[in-house]
Amino acid sequence: MNPAVFIDAIQTELQRTDYGQHPPELYDPIRYIMSLGGKRMRPLLTLMSTYLFTDNWQRAVRPALGVEVFHNFTLMHDDIMDRAPLRRGKPTVHEKWNDNIAILSGDVMLVNAYDLLLDVDVDKLKSILARFSRTAAEVCEGQQMDMNFETRWDVTEAEYVEMIRLKTSVLLGYALELGGLIAGADAETNRHLYESGVNIGIGFQLKDDLLDVYGDPAKFGKQVGGDIIANKKTFLLIEALEKATGPIRDELTGWLARTNFNKAEKVAAVTTIYDQLGIRQITRSRINEYFERGFANLEQVVAEPARKAVLGDFARQLVERES
Ligand code: IPE
Ligand code: IPE
Ligand code: MG
Ligand code: MG
Ligand code: MG
Repeated sequence: MNPAVFIDAIQTELQRTDYGQHPPELYDPIRYIMSLGGKRMRPLLTLMSTYLFTDNWQRAVRPALGVEVFHNFTLMHDDIMDRAPLRRGKPTVHEKWNDNIAILSGDVMLVNAYDLLLDVDVDKLKSILARFSRTAAEVCEGQQMDMNFETRWDVTEAEYVEMIRLKTSVLLGYALELGGLIAGADAETNRHLYESGVNIGIGFQLKDDLLDVYGDPAKFGKQVGGDIIANKKTFLLIEALEKATGPIRDELTGWLARTNFNKAEKVAAVTTIYDQLGIRQITRSRINEYFERGFANLEQVVAEPARKAVLGDFARQLVERES
């Protein structure tokens, strides 16, 4: 199976999805953010996961899109919270319209996501929605922890991993589990799929943190340095705070404490500190560790090897992604 078939199916369904019309201020931002593209990783994971167990993966397309709409809703609200100017190389919704529009459009996207998820066999509906609701609440929990950590200096790596497990990884876990649920796979298989998504998701968010500092702005599509500006407790910063001593530590904590600063200057200074401490390499090896765990979980899933390879190859590409 060529993964392009899955991408085409998602694109086709996206084009025929009607989010709503009036008032346009509510619905235009949805069409805008959904049209900006992105990797479409979550729905792809769902389709590839469904395909592990059945040829009839097409029935997973609308629920898979539900996961993508939910993801885009979280991005719309996340960009308000992070005061982010750019998303997928274009102005964020709250920059192009305003905060209130981004809040309410995001709200209705969550409703749209549920509508798309309704399109499953009725005997599976309850478990699919219950698992989704739990996941959605966990994403909010992770997002709140992310915000709380901005003003703390003593965040540990364990607390950080828990925060990203919630804000990012459980949704990747759910995207894979959803394929198993739709295809009627057994509970143990679904658990392996979920765990695989969670571990890959932790590696994925670590890579996002790395790209936020070292990404190529032309490819990354988001403001490079945004995490440094906001004092986000990323893996890079936590590791730097742990490693830095003497004058480097004073300089780093000095930048964190400053409320009035030139953004570009702070980003350049903190990046130099990361360079001096070798943070890039440490982050890279941690990324690989979590992805490897995710691939090991996937190994536990009983399915045709050629079908597992489609999913495995796609996930492997994410390790080296630049956007
Ligand atoms: C961005 O997700 C938010 C994170 C969890 C890091 P993606 O990197 O999947 O964003 P798109 O959908 O491809 O734009
Ligand atoms: C976002 O984490 C996770 C969610 C959207 C739930 P980030 O704040 O790092 O995501 P980006 O970098 O803005 O995409
Ligand atoms: Mg953000
Ligand atoms: Mg954020
Ligand atoms: Mg980020």
